[in-house]
Amino acid sequence: MLWTWDALRVATDGTGAVPFDADGVSIDSRTVQPGDLFVALQGDTDGHAHVAAALARGAAGAMVHRMDGLPENAPLLLVPDTLDGLHALGRGGRDRFQGRVVAVTGSVGKTTTKEMLRAALAPFGTVHAAEASYNNHWGVPLTLARLPPGAAFCVAEIGMNHPGEIAPLARMARPDVAVITTIAAAHIGHLGSLDAIADEKAAILQGLIPGGVAVLPGDSPFLTRMAADAPGRVVTFGQGDTNDARLLPLSPRKRPGVSATNGTGLDPAIAHTQPSSGGKGLHAVILGTPVAFDLIAPGQHMATNAVAALAACAALGLDPVQAAAALSHFAPIAGRGLQRRVGEILLLDESYNASSASIRAALHVLADLPGRRVAVLGDMLELGAFGPGEHEDLAPDVTSCADLLYSCGPLMRRLYDRVPSGHRGAHAADSAALAPLVAAAVLPGDAVLVKGSLGSRMQRVVAALEAPSPPGWSPGNVR
Ligand SMILES: Nc1ncnc2c1ncn2[C@@H]1O[C@H](COP(=O)(O)OP(=O)(O)OP(=O)(O)O)[C@@H](O)[C@H]1O
Ligand SMILES: [Mg+2]
Repeated sequence: MLWTWDALRVATDGTGAVPFDADGVSIDSRTVQPGDLFVALQGDTDGHAHVAAALARGAAGAMVHRMDGLPENAPLLLVPDTLDGLHALGRGGRDRFQGRVVAVTGSVGKTTTKEMLRAALAPFGTVHAAEASYNNHWGVPLTLARLPPGAAFCVAEIGMNHPGEIAPLARMARPDVAVITTIAAAHIGHLGSLDAIADEKAAILQGLIPGGVAVLPGDSPFLTRMAADAPGRVVTFGQGDTNDARLLPLSPRKRPGVSATNGTGLDPAIAHTQPSSGGKGLHAVILGTPVAFDLIAPGQHMATNAVAALAACAALGLDPVQAAAALSHFAPIAGRGLQRRVGEILLLDESYNASSASIRAALHVLADLPGRRVAVLGDMLELGAFGPGEHEDLAPDVTSCADLLYSCGPLMRRLYDRVPSGHRGAHAADSAALAPLVAAAVLPGDAVLVKGSLGSRMQRVVAALEAPSPPGWSPGNVR
């Protein structure tokens, strides 16, 4: 039993006439499971309107801050405010937890590193990790409220859009180890500068328990600034020689087929495009211990995230060799670097989100893929005044890593205009207009990267590439 009635009342100071126990916690009546406590949050929609539906789906009871319209004999936990109630439950879940907590923040790579920790910690005990990207004022308390008291480890993801959001969530999670993955210009429009982003991310260190360890990106220009906020031990990770956890140089990969194109951009030697084999044969030194590991996801950024996860395991006193071996169970996440064959092209689907750091990382993965390399990019949002420059500065990366650029949105227009004319595929106002152009232009054997902020809706391009070809369609033939 996750929450007994008594534990629910004590944690939230709530009251109710019909006691119930809960096996789980949910904030969405559509996905509530039998036995769950349904928390009626007041967001864009009012969860109170969905209490009856949640109970009908089998919820054990509901946390509410209003009773009107609800049957008196329903299993309800009445609190002054349901969001505060959820936070109280998060704190309660953390307070009673005897295992170890790792919290992950950073500009990019939080979910990836969290999922790598889920895999790497598994050999040492039961792991409870945040679902998806649950990293905000409801995601973090929900992760902690769902934490089984008997688990050995909890991995929380902590994110932010605005200043001041991280510290209270970090104090709620009270991590034994806090990881900062990267500092880069994501959401910079709300923060104003990279210094401000570094300070905001470093606020996670305020939540560390006494004796807790900060795991920080050692190659970052903001290392010293962030380390100054660490209350105790600092463990650095990265590629530089001085890092406590160090990724050893990757052996250079040869791009098959770049030299032997036949004028169509298609290498006759490539009968079928294959997903890249990922990061095979990686080596690192983790706090003095040499480790070897394989990752299903390719790219230096993925390998570096893995080293951060291993550094966190070692900071908990766990054997990095065992942790590294378990990384082979890490599975890349849809929309974040998953490669798949679609017809005769290799699709690198990164349509879930974008910042300049993650676009660069994805372009470098594209650079290593066989065949003609097509980058399809949509606007990066939430960059404020930094938007134009952040887009324009990608020109050298696009030029060196891709053969063709297709783009959409007013900000990407600035990038499109900066790349050499031979690299320009097409530019369109939005992804709806761009999708058919890309679908008509791709050739068998192409490697196609699709990336942009979620709001740029690059999923439309993915959908167009996945759609069966219309009758009479021939690859590469724009009509
Ligand atoms: N260390 C890294 N450096 C650059 N890009 C990265 C790094 N790690 C992951 N990425 C890329 O960044 C994107 C987002 O990854 P991920 O979902 O792990 O980040 P996140 O910080 O959880 O994002 P969100 O803020 O949306 O929750 C993906 O395209 C991924 O491939
Ligand atoms: Mg995330």
